[in-house]
Amino acid sequence: VKVAVLGGTGRMGRALAKQLSKENDVVIGSRDESRARASAKEIDGAEGADYRGASKTAEVVVFAIPYSAIGLAATLADALAGKVVVSMINPIRVEGGLMLFGLKDGSAAEELAALIPGSKVATAFNNISALFFERDEVVPIDTLVAADSLETFETVAGLVRSIPNLRPLYAGPLSQAGTIERMTSLVLNLGRLNRAGSLTTRFVSTKDKPS
Ligand SMILES: NC(=O)c1ccc[n+]([C@@H]2O[C@H](COP(=O)([O-])OP(=O)(O)OC[C@H]3O[C@@H](n4cnc5c(N)ncnc54)[C@H](OP(=O)(O)O)[C@@H]3O)[C@@H](O)[C@H]2O)c1
Repeated sequence: VKVAVLGGTGRMGRALAKQLSKENDVVIGSRDESRARASAKEIDGAEGADYRGASKTAEVVVFAIPYSAIGLAATLADALAGKVVVSMINPIRVEGGLMLFGLKDGSAAEELAALIPGSKVATAFNNISALFFERDEVVPIDTLVAADSLETFETVAGLVRSIPNLRPLYAGPLSQAGTIERMTSLVLNLGRLNRAGSLTTRFVSTKDKPS
């Protein structure tokens, strides 16, 4: 799959792009094309482009930009029309040493969807720290995918599965994105308050065999 990572020059974008490049054609998107090219050089086979160029050329587009920059999506609405767009954006604020969900209601993913109404927006990767993707191999973990159609879920699930050891779990429609984004603050606080390193999501099942 040809996948663009907008903000692929940032901490999470770079790490995710590195993992995705194992099985996909990756385009690093940056506000600055030369910065995108420089980041792309660090990843075998990756290309670099500005946000518009990256959005146009890719089949699936991942937003790895800060919540504060979400408004720029509106300027890409035509280039993203008809495409599957993945939001990993977490609106987080820090208060009294705790990470808190930064919105009164709704979610970053739903705000993104409203800015690009012609696109099929889903969530993925929200609860996974870049630290997991910066390693050569990812440990077995789950990522929650909210999407308004099963078809969109399946496209994103394929992308998730292209990273070895990463399991997509369908979380229901995009209205569930707020719960997923809130979980990011929870796992960050759990890791810090329990001195447990960086934590992420891995669900166990009654179908699992005892080891
Ligand atoms: N870091 C993590 O572990 C992690 C985990 C899960 C989800 N996330 C989410 O992923 C997103 C990116 O996080 P990050 O830690 O990678 O952030 P980051 O290191 O600050 O990178 C963000 C990238 O976004 C681009 N950008 C576009 N508009 C921007 C603006 N107005 N101000 C600053 N940067 C802008 C920048 O790329 P150009 O300047 O090249 O355009 C920058 O490299 C966030 O929404 C975060 O919640 C992060």
